[in-house]
Amino acid sequence: MEDRIISSEADVQELSLEQSLRPQFLQQYIGQDQVKENLKIFIEAARLRQETLDHVLLYGPPGLGKTTLATIIANEMGVNIRTTAGPAIERPGDLAAILTALEPGDVLFIDEIHRLPRAIEEVLYPAMEDFCLDIVIGKGSSARSVRLDLPPFTLVGATTRAGSLSAPLRDRFGVLSRLEYYREDQLKDIVIRTAELFETAIDVNAAEEIARRSRGTPRIANRLLRRVRDFAQVRGNGVIDEALAIEALELLQVDRLGLDHIDHKLLRGIIEKFRGGPVGLETIAATIGEEALTIEDVYEPYLLQIGFLQRTPRGRIVTNLVYRHFQMEVPSE
Ligand code: ADE
Repeated sequence: MEDRIISSEADVQELSLEQSLRPQFLQQYIGQDQVKENLKIFIEAARLRQETLDHVLLYGPPGLGKTTLATIIANEMGVNIRTTAGPAIERPGDLAAILTALEPGDVLFIDEIHRLPRAIEEVLYPAMEDFCLDIVIGKGSSARSVRLDLPPFTLVGATTRAGSLSAPLRDRFGVLSRLEYYREDQLKDIVIRTAELFETAIDVNAAEEIARRSRGTPRIANRLLRRVRDFAQVRGNGVIDEALAIEALELLQVDRLGLDHIDHKLLRGIIEKFRGGPVGLETIAATIGEEALTIEDVYEPYLLQIGFLQRTPRGRIVTNLVYRHFQMEVPSE
């Protein structure tokens, strides 16, 4: 896979840098107004009643702030957050170890919760519902089940694919929040906020240009800002103005709509090899050398959102917008 998700060490460094830039409280969080408004009420109500917050499921495309919101929920509730991810929990004992170490009221954040093995999900049900754990000790005829009480906690689950969650798990969340792509003005404000934290001067037009090319995604906006800032430091005087931002973004091969070389490869692949489709996901994946799941979770959602791609029962189709964007002749019917 190419360099869009975490892979190299440099990316890991950037990830911790990214964490230090994240808003810590709802008031600092830009965008997702509906989600924020709801969470604010539920958090306040739980605090007034001195109860733990109900379990929260955050879903939506990657990079929109699910992990950030989980941290904010814990901060607003004044509790600790323990973080893990679906694929990291392999055996029921792994989950039991995490759950029994929680303190009352803690937030347990499970990222990629759709990748939790089924057997683990079943351990989670009574934990979520009754704050208890049924564990089996011993083997064969001497095996018996023991019930263990847990401290009350809030499970915050995050997923890019709510549809892959089993119904019993989904139903145990009291709050379901869907994150949407951000508007350009919101991304501009995020870029300006991050630039301030970097103590980097940026003009509004430059922030708008970065926002326009960020595919509705704060993670991308902040990543582009870091690259443009490097460019300003080396090639300019450290100040990010519009001309410099455009030059840097062109160099990064991020086009006017924020599409990068992988989006281009995907769209051009469908046009050049399959006459614009319909073509099946697996076939596209094999043709361009990316994993089908990655295409589906990471690349496709935004292309669907801007109407560049359509999903049909017979496969994916590129729309006329793509031909126009690439200044290609639109094929006749
Ligand atoms: N940094 C990344 N996402 C953000 C957001 N939604 N609000 C403020 N700063 C951010």
